[in-house]
Amino acid sequence: MSAETVTDTTDTATDPDTAADQVFSVRNLWKVFGPKADRVPGDESLTGLSVAEVRERTGCTAAVRDVSFDVARGEVFVVMGLSGSGKSTLVRCLTRLIEPTSGALHVLGEDVLAMDRSRLRELRRRRAAMVFQHFGLLPHRTVLDNVAYGLEIQGVGRAERRARAAEMVEKVGLAGLGDRRPGQLSGGQQQRVGLARALAVDPEVLLFDEPFSALDPLIRRDMQEEVIRLHREEGRTMVFITHDLSEALRVGDRIALMRDGEIVQLGTPEQIVAEPADDYVRDFVRDVPREQVVSVRRAMRPALEGEADTGVAIAPGTVVADAIEAVARSGGHIRVVEDGRVLGIVDHARLLAVVAGLDPDAGGSHTGGREGVAA
Ligand SMILES: Nc1ncnc2c1ncn2[C@@H]1O[C@H](COP(=O)(O)OP(=O)(O)OP(=O)(O)O)[C@@H](O)[C@H]1O
Ligand SMILES: [Mg+2]
Repeated sequence: MSAETVTDTTDTATDPDTAADQVFSVRNLWKVFGPKADRVPGDESLTGLSVAEVRERTGCTAAVRDVSFDVARGEVFVVMGLSGSGKSTLVRCLTRLIEPTSGALHVLGEDVLAMDRSRLRELRRRRAAMVFQHFGLLPHRTVLDNVAYGLEIQGVGRAERRARAAEMVEKVGLAGLGDRRPGQLSGGQQQRVGLARALAVDPEVLLFDEPFSALDPLIRRDMQEEVIRLHREEGRTMVFITHDLSEALRVGDRIALMRDGEIVQLGTPEQIVAEPADDYVRDFVRDVPREQVVSVRRAMRPALEGEADTGVAIAPGTVVADAIEAVARSGGHIRVVEDGRVLGIVDHARLLAVVAGLDPDAGGSHTGGREGVAA
């Protein structure tokens, strides 16, 4: 698939001139493993083939194929896809833990592919901290010393690094456990130590490679809340790999859905669920409870004369499930209001149409119609 056929349903600028505003800016990135991998991205007789066909012809595995996207400052960017779809390879390419085969890659406007060894080390140690699935903790060190480790290799003095580590231990909810060793902690607690260690170096971006997939569901939920909280409170930029759709929908501002090394769709959780780019994505999101993800924006109709002034008001980001409850309580239609402005009206029939994946304007709503006046 070529770049043109990738469906990017977000408004992110793809103009390379804007790259400096983006934490990561990735263009036409390829990673091919195998003999003479370099020739694959430029060979048009190969780039149109499937991964399996390329492997058969060349013996190479095209793990990341012609991928382009931006990660904006302060967003949680999720990379999702089945096992083997290229998620880890892609994210490791961002700091050149894996060397890309071709393409362009910038971090805050700086060309990552042009970085020398010391600049790369700086990128990995200070600017883009990685949190792995297997926590990679040092077993003989205390929690506090594990958290301080990243600062230690940066040459931060002992007193300062212990103070910062203690602060991070507290921040991730491990207050009082600083003197334990990793073996004396639960899996979820160990993952919190990994998170605190990454946070201690105060990186511009946190990279997570399936950090919670080894955790049991309840603890996993806790950790997802932790990530959401960090994001909300600190506005920290994160790139988060998962193969779990519900996790992706919960933590992601935007989701890149990968298949065979390509991004098949890039969009908000709502866009992925409500406007799947193709049958593959549609199938992927089939079991998602739409009312939990889709917002009332998709169910609105313009307000008619008189409707805009009174009645229950909800925000446009309200998910349909919550709006159904509000409509049930109000007994009629309710207003969608943002900054004191009425954006539109929703009622029961329109909300149900959206849940069913139907166009709410296609009928079934007796108060509907496009002739209404905008408030
Ligand atoms: N060092 C390597 N040499 C050859 N092939 C590799 C190498 N690393 C990864 N691959 C292949 O690249 C493809 C993508 O692998 P990758 O690890 O990125 O997938 P993933 O989406 O992270 O999967 P998972 O969910 O299982 O972690 C796979 O086909 C894999 O076998
Ligand atoms: Mg992986």
